Amino acid sequence: MSVTRFINPVLALMLMKLLIAKAMGGVTLSISNGGGSLRAVIFQDFLVRLRGKRLMLVGDSMNRNQFESILCLLREGLHNKSRMHEIHGHKITKGRGYYVFKFEDYDCTVEFVRSHFLVKEGVRINAQGSSNPTLSIDQIDKTAKRWKRADILVFNTGHWWSHGKTARGKNYYKEGDYLYPKFDASEAYRRALRTWASWIDRNVNPSKQLIFYRGYSSAHFRGGDWDSGGSCNGEKEPVLSGAILDNYPLKMKIVDEVIKEMRVPVKLLNVTRLTNFRKDGHPSIYGKNATAGKKVSTRKQDCSHWCLPGVPDAWNELIYATLIIQQTKSKSKNS
Ligand SMILES: *[C@@H]1O[C@H](CO)[C@@H](O)[C@H](O)[C@H]1NC(C)=O
Ligand SMILES: *[C@@H]1O[C@H](CO)[C@@H](O)[C@H](O)[C@H]1NC(C)=O
Ligand SMILES: *[C@@H]1O[C@H](CO)[C@@H](O)[C@H](O)[C@H]1NC(C)=O
Repeated sequence: MSVTRFINPVLALMLMKLLIAKAMGGVTLSISNGGGSLRAVIFQDFLVRLRGKRLMLVGDSMNRNQFESILCLLREGLHNKSRMHEIHGHKITKGRGYYVFKFEDYDCTVEFVRSHFLVKEGVRINAQGSSNPTLSIDQIDKTAKRWKRADILVFNTGHWWSHGKTARGKNYYKEGDYLYPKFDASEAYRRALRTWASWIDRNVNPSKQLIFYRGYSSAHFRGGDWDSGGSCNGEKEPVLSGAILDNYPLKMKIVDEVIKEMRVPVKLLNVTRLTNFRKDGHPSIYGKNATAGKKVSTRKQDCSHWCLPGVPDAWNELIYATLIIQQTKSKSKNS
């Protein structure tokens, strides 16, 4: 995606001011128009652009992180903060897989649908009688029926592909009824994304719906991985140089390749490089069950999700910038 030129100079100026305010350490600038803080004005404009629409994030817990970020940003645009609510009264937890937040004054919803792989998870009973997970890389996830109803969709999948069974690929990947005794995880990722792409091409109307794919978000574990004692606590500065900054994972090359072949234009939120810098942005020891900022566990650290406010806010600002460009373009086309 190239966000190089803002057609509407007023909004370009607003965005620029937002970035300046951020650079000044979150100081909110007041502007004369309306008297509210600049951020409130901007996120109110974001809400106006979402009026009457359903925005849905589909993916793993990293997308839930992005979902929480966008809820916080849009909330800043509300005069009365109580005019948003989860329609079933659900609180956000790791366990639940579907949320719908309604912004009453804008008749819009922001939703999250959990789908770790975008393709269908299953189980099989092995010879010893115990059940084992499988992944059907040629079938779309069962949550896809929900995806159809959204006006704006933001997909991701990535982190689960490097976990145990998925990475090993033994008696795990399926195509049709065939269970591969061993299958390469990268090739499985490619085929799964193609399954997703072909579902999008068959089910999405690009003149009515807008599709984003959010690129891989980097983790920063030192001395181990997420499940083997890796850490990132005490990091206060971003990475300023080194090979990690140029790291563009094979999974992202596969995403680029698959998206290029699609009929429906998919906007890639190409956030990988910007996340490479931010070793200082993860919850680390404060990730779980932290009360009043007290550290809880030094053994298992979270160096893959992000603190909020933080990095995912920038991903959502890219969505906002895309809406500005699209809506400005369609206005100039109609006039
Ligand atoms: C804010 O919204 C809530 C829920 O709709 C309502 O009960 C409350 O009266 C509102 N407060 C103000 C100050 O308008
Ligand atoms: C995404 O950004 C990386 C640099 O981090 C670049 O190499 C890659 O080509 C970009 N992908 C697309 C589709 O623009
Ligand atoms: C969270 O912290 C509280 C208070 O320290 C403790 O009672 C509770 O068991 C903790 N929960 C988890 C899941 O670790």
